[in-house]
Amino acid sequence: MSHHPEGIAPHGGQLVHRIATHNQWQEFREKADFLPRVQLDKRATSDLEMIAIGAFSPLIGFMEKADYESVVDNMRLANGLPWSIPITLSVEEDVAEPLKEGGLVRLDDPSGRFIGVLELTQKYHYDKTREALKVYRTDEEQHPGVRVVYNQGNINLAGPIWLLQRDPHPLFPNYQIDPAKSRALFQEKGWKTVVGFQTRNPIHRAHEYIIKCALETVDGLFLHPLVGATKSDDIPAEVRMRCYEIMLEHYFPENRVILAINPAAMRYAGPREAIFHALIRKNYGCTHFIVGRDHAGVGDYYGTYDAQYIFDEFEPTELGIVPMKFEHAFYCKRTQQMATTKTSPSLPEERVHLSGTKVREMLRRGELPPPEFSRPEVAAELAMAMNISQYEI
Ligand code: ADX
Repeated sequence: MSHHPEGIAPHGGQLVHRIATHNQWQEFREKADFLPRVQLDKRATSDLEMIAIGAFSPLIGFMEKADYESVVDNMRLANGLPWSIPITLSVEEDVAEPLKEGGLVRLDDPSGRFIGVLELTQKYHYDKTREALKVYRTDEEQHPGVRVVYNQGNINLAGPIWLLQRDPHPLFPNYQIDPAKSRALFQEKGWKTVVGFQTRNPIHRAHEYIIKCALETVDGLFLHPLVGATKSDDIPAEVRMRCYEIMLEHYFPENRVILAINPAAMRYAGPREAIFHALIRKNYGCTHFIVGRDHAGVGDYYGTYDAQYIFDEFEPTELGIVPMKFEHAFYCKRTQQMATTKTSPSLPEERVHLSGTKVREMLRRGELPPPEFSRPEVAAELAMAMNISQYEI
């Protein structure tokens, strides 16, 4: 792995920074009223932010056609660098029509606030069904990631972007740790190896088990829950963040974990998203990344370990971050601890299988997840959030 003053090299070699300087900010504000305007949806807003803070390094903007096609077809940017998810700004034809290539476009967030600028270098048609089949491995509209693609505009606007300014996160300002900062923190703590953990669920016992197995062999844990757009039946980020704080307070050593938010939107692209998630964490400075069962999956679209197999399609050096793969973890009644088939002699009937989906279903039915599923303090917090009256710890 190449040497970099702040730990491992970001993807592509340099950490991107696309937040306007004070002078640019002034210039953009003066021009704002005269620029054509495009309103971003929630996903594009978070993509803009991810690009600007360097989390999507080496991307400096929304993808041009050559990168887009290459990513969709070959999981690589046009220059050959691995990249698995298209990062595009899609608009309807009537919005794209008056925009001139070579000009600047004002970008507003979903509430109409001016937040960024696009230097429009290209606008192009793309094939939604092809994107769905290649990236999501299905063309079914029920897939929440595919649905977003089908519902977005037919034209992609491409080119470098600037984020006007870096505002503190409205809900979690203390956990807004951008890649430059997390890299500095890892250095400060003297962590040579750091494992990133992606999650969009409250931490249940299986998560805790695989995290701790990883933590036995690396210096630090970067607990990096995704707080961008998720599907409506996922547990809200505010509730999850409280659960992570509770976990850290009661069940982890103080100096081995940094909790930070990942502002990305969830795609539910399973294997392709596992690669994407790993590359993002590499940009944050992680050397390792956890990939468990059905990572970033939804429904039955992906095989349990497809998100692990996909790492074999790349040379380890070109990804530059090491996947730590874990089998499906369960509570083993015979050994009375968390385990996988790699470590437990139990028969299938002695195993309590848990998942975020199961926890959500139990909570919705008004049931409290048992201690084999969730730590009681976390279960209580979830129950409270779901307004369940009959809980006890
Ligand atoms: S994800 O969409 O963000 O991947 P989730 O928050 O459920 O969903 O999972 C976070 C990570 O934990 C993923 O790497 C996932 O594969 C892993 N994981 C979740 N449940 C289990 C389990 N029972 N056994 C092993 N790994 C698991």
